Amino acid sequence: MRSLIKHVLKRAEACDDLHVAGWVRTRRDSKAFSFLELNDGTCLGNLQIVADAGIPGYEDIAKMSTGASIEIRGKLIPSPAAGQAWEMQATSLKLLGGVPEDYPLQKKGHSTEFLRSIAHLRPRTNLYGAVFRMRSRMAFAVHKFFQERDFIYVHTPIITASDCEGAGEMFRVTTLPDDKIAKAEEDFFGKRAFLTVSGQLEGETFACALSNIYTFGPTFRAENSNTSRHAAEFWMIEPEVAFCDLEGDMDLAEALVKYLVKEALTNSDGDLAIFEKFVDKGLRERLEFVASRPFERITYTEAVELLKASGKAFEYPVEYGLNLQSEHERWLTEEHFKKPVTVFNYPKEIKPFYMRLNDDNKTVTAMDVLVPGIGEIVGGSQREERLDVLMENFKKHDLDPDAYGWYADLRKYGSVPHAGFGLGFERMLMFVTGMANIRDVIPFARTPGNCEF
Ligand code: 4AD
Repeated sequence: MRSLIKHVLKRAEACDDLHVAGWVRTRRDSKAFSFLELNDGTCLGNLQIVADAGIPGYEDIAKMSTGASIEIRGKLIPSPAAGQAWEMQATSLKLLGGVPEDYPLQKKGHSTEFLRSIAHLRPRTNLYGAVFRMRSRMAFAVHKFFQERDFIYVHTPIITASDCEGAGEMFRVTTLPDDKIAKAEEDFFGKRAFLTVSGQLEGETFACALSNIYTFGPTFRAENSNTSRHAAEFWMIEPEVAFCDLEGDMDLAEALVKYLVKEALTNSDGDLAIFEKFVDKGLRERLEFVASRPFERITYTEAVELLKASGKAFEYPVEYGLNLQSEHERWLTEEHFKKPVTVFNYPKEIKPFYMRLNDDNKTVTAMDVLVPGIGEIVGGSQREERLDVLMENFKKHDLDPDAYGWYADLRKYGSVPHAGFGLGFERMLMFVTGMANIRDVIPFARTPGNCEF
């Protein structure tokens, strides 16, 4: 049976009949033998292979250059070389797939921009291998966090007719030919349909039946923001909790972010080291700091006052009633508090229809978690559970109450206070890897003007 290199490198004992396969990272030849560094993507480390001239398969050694795929049988023996416990003495080699000279990943540094243009090959580099192993581990940790706390995983639809965030930034899904595009009643669903921007509304229906639920799936936004933090397709984790208020919601968001940070620190299988070395020298220290201290909590009104008093010349204005921009969020978390900050109670005018109105009649129970280096990573709220207030909100937000009848029913039949939030999975990954661009933590990024692969 073939062994994975991650297990081989951790073995406690030598072994006589090892079988491995992978891609050649480097090869050095001398007269009597060759050294090969083999990587199979299961971990950062390579297995060093010593292949004596004359063993079966050695006749192809010249073709086993960087990027070639090979299979090797042999013995695992203690390595005399520094920095590695084991090496493999090959008894046979087999070339599976050779590489012509134009293989783009020759052993030299490449820019992240260049690697994005070969996104089908970049997982073969040390850095992107580490990023995507981390992505897998973090996804698993999300499920662990919720399953340990009795949350039920719900699959909300990807195709929907409702615009949860009310921002009108949705991709339309249609089977109509171009000349009939306006005739929505003739379309596949008999009405206009879109890719979802959030699973929240459907998630709420399940929380109002099963108590604690979460969704974790792809979401789509057709916002034309070409920034390092926005993607047109991204994954979102959305818990929804019945019998919960804003305070409980903020506690849950903080606990989830901290859990994922701790997971990245303790369970990275060596991958964190490469982010620290090549991406962000202060990464481990920052993650340890975040995992061990309470987040700051301030109201939107306090945030605006702090920003106004900062004396800083921001590009966008700071005024009560305006959205906080990324530069404002980053000043609060990076320069002022120097730790994650949860901002809550925003003016009702700048937030969606579903957020619960506060007694001041001015603000809603919205909350955003801001983290250094990124800004907003979580957005959530307590939901409006009072039917009459919700119906008013439909009017104010110009929404057709009939289209949201099912959503209003939750308030009509056994309504409960409930709350939830959305954590942007890619933004969380940027935070734990230090990668500065969202395009570098998604296997194949979809951004304005870019739908390659
Ligand atoms: O603040 P948002 O828009 O909240 C919602 O969608 C709510 N319905 C969530 C809920 O309460 N269940 O988005 C939540 C998070 C943001 O904080 C951000 O991390 C991420 O989703 N996000 C994006 N990530 C990448 N690219 C984009 N275009 C994103 N838009 C939002």
